[in-house]
Amino acid sequence: MLNVAVLVSGRGSNLQALIDACAEEDFPARIVAVISNNPDAYGLERARQANISTSVVNHRDFDDRESFEAAIDLELKNYKAKFICLAGFMRILDARFVNRWKDRILNIHPSLLPSFKGLHTQERALEAGVRFTGCTVHIVRPEMDDGPIILQAAVAVDPEDDADNLSAKVLELEHVIYPEALKLVALGRVSINGNKAVIEKATYPTGGLISPEPIS
Ligand code: GAR
Repeated sequence: MLNVAVLVSGRGSNLQALIDACAEEDFPARIVAVISNNPDAYGLERARQANISTSVVNHRDFDDRESFEAAIDLELKNYKAKFICLAGFMRILDARFVNRWKDRILNIHPSLLPSFKGLHTQERALEAGVRFTGCTVHIVRPEMDDGPIILQAAVAVDPEDDADNLSAKVLELEHVIYPEALKLVALGRVSINGNKAVIEKATYPTGGLISPEPIS
């Protein structure tokens, strides 16, 4: 059983997806704590409702990133967390922290990485006129929104889409792939080979999707 801490900054809908998955019989991970830099994060409330321990480590209480991250590290040790899931955690973690937890931090990002790193991803996807967008679960590396990709899911962009409904479509997929990626990791089926994650005994879709559909 993999002991996971989830770091959140806000709403926590991905946290909820992980809580629900961990509640399933035979799921190979359990959430030992939810830690937030934001005392008002709704994710903390979700954790309480699920009887999961919570801690607030407010970045505003620290002089620098190093001491903020040292405080998070201490919490992680206290909870005996062996793995971290970032779920809408909106602070950048520096290289020292990431390297200390090398290959033991997952993140979810609402784009098909390496496209659209950073914020306002769906706005930028719409501006760029992409035909597909989606979400990515990846192992965290020191560069922002970078690291070996575990799973991705794509949605076609409808010409009628605005950033809000595109975000909602993508979020629905986030809630599917995040628990799935954590499961693969917890089962020991993911190995890291350079910049790539290799998934043991994975099956992949063949063929492809085309958007817009070919003219007849
Ligand atoms: C999610 O869409 C997640 O992919 C994104 O923040 C949202 C958090 O929602 N994360 C990032 O942009 C990280 N770069 P949630 O709090 O409801 O899970």
